[in-house]
Amino acid sequence: MNIGIIGTGYVGLVTGACFAAKDNTVVCMDSATDKIDTLQRGVIPFSEPELATLVQSNIAQNRLTFTTSLPSVVRHAEILFIAAGTPASLDRAADMSSIDNIIAQLAHIGDMGQKVIVMKSTVPMGTTYKISQQLRHDYVASNPEFLREGRAVHDFFAPDRIVIGADNPSVATTLARLYAPFLEGDAQLFQVSILSAELSKYAANAMLAVRISFANELAHLCEAYGASFAEVKAVMGSDMRIGHQFLSCGIGYGGSCFPKDMHAIIHLARAVEQEMSICSAAQRVNDRQIDRFVHRIRNYFADGLKNKRIAVWGVAFKPGTDDTRSSPSVAIMRQLLDEKAMVVAHDPVAFAHSSGDPITQHITVATSAYDACVDADALLIHTEWDEYRDMDMARVRNMMRRPVIFDGRNLYREKSTALDGFDYFCIGEPIAAECSHTASREPT
Ligand SMILES: NC(=O)c1ccc[n+]([C@@H]2O[C@H](COP(=O)([O-])OP(=O)(O)OC[C@H]3O[C@@H](n4cnc5c(N)ncnc54)[C@H](O)[C@@H]3O)[C@@H](O)[C@H]2O)c1
Repeated sequence: MNIGIIGTGYVGLVTGACFAAKDNTVVCMDSATDKIDTLQRGVIPFSEPELATLVQSNIAQNRLTFTTSLPSVVRHAEILFIAAGTPASLDRAADMSSIDNIIAQLAHIGDMGQKVIVMKSTVPMGTTYKISQQLRHDYVASNPEFLREGRAVHDFFAPDRIVIGADNPSVATTLARLYAPFLEGDAQLFQVSILSAELSKYAANAMLAVRISFANELAHLCEAYGASFAEVKAVMGSDMRIGHQFLSCGIGYGGSCFPKDMHAIIHLARAVEQEMSICSAAQRVNDRQIDRFVHRIRNYFADGLKNKRIAVWGVAFKPGTDDTRSSPSVAIMRQLLDEKAMVVAHDPVAFAHSSGDPITQHITVATSAYDACVDADALLIHTEWDEYRDMDMARVRNMMRRPVIFDGRNLYREKSTALDGFDYFCIGEPIAAECSHTASREPT
């Protein structure tokens, strides 16, 4: 089939490359000229495992091309996917300006014939209907995306589920045909109403975020009573009804989806005089998680954080990606900078692309995890990259001015022998006796 993608970011590029790999002819369009220039040279403007090879091989086989021209992608496509960003706006509702802009341009182009217009972005309930009305076009569908950054190509080829929200049966059939090659494993196909499809994406992200905040709140209770979160979680997660996934405590959730989708679902509920009170609470817990972590660090130093040299391992919001959007690591570094600490950060990929987070202008970027620790007054672990799991901690200790670790991901929780000579703080575990003299009440 001839596929067009409007908005070639994480989701649009993965979607385009994976459809191309299944013998479709795909044109990916984006308004960012530099991004399209880069992609036309076969270079991926962000880090995502397997994606570069997939893009390059499909370019070579003439199944994948890139353009900045909306009319040309429309001309090409039988099915047009919209995958532009929907970040949080100032009032924290979904910012629909990119989508609105695309729809206005499509309206200007005119009659879409029988082209199927598919909303892949995460959008408020009712958006797909609104588009149908604005374009006076019945061939529309909602097809939310559930890929995870860092495993995006894998997830697209082997999804847990594919959701097609379409009222028009011919649209549903066309999309089911397009997705048939992706349904060969255990994937479930859900053909649902447009509104259910739109809401299912927010519901899934909200549920996962709530679980993380539940784990974090439970971790505080464990610390207060001297219980071990790891032990409690092992018991709790062994219940088949609960399971172990998304129940890790740490510095909280981040990334380009959970925080803004939590804001959006809360906002969407209010718009119809409902309340997502559990989501609001989960959000508060998540924000507090950062404050508690920084409080613990601040509290360790009798003379404050000013001029302290703080080493940070991990800036991306999770391992496997260079994405630093709403990363807890960035939020923590901002607080440390506000208190005049000097931050030296390392991340295996987050600094690789020039479009990195603006915080890079205010910190020192270390070329290796060891280099970050030279003369450091503290080491903070923010992202659970594999390479941080098996570091030579004796070497790290000798490099540091003051051997203390604040482990925001509990990477070294079970490695007590590697931690000889360190003060070590993780999350959700009893505070070690040698560190307890520094412990004080944390913000509630
Ligand atoms: N990133 C994820 O892991 C993920 C997963 C599932 C769903 N989603 C959802 O998918 C959507 C896209 O997310 P993303 O992470 O790919 O965003 P992104 O910011 O990486 O990409 C969006 C792209 O849209 C382009 N764009 C903006 N306005 C445009 C216009 N008028 N015309 C053409 N292109 C335009 C931007 O230049 C950008 O390249 C969001 O709604 C997001 O919530 C994201």
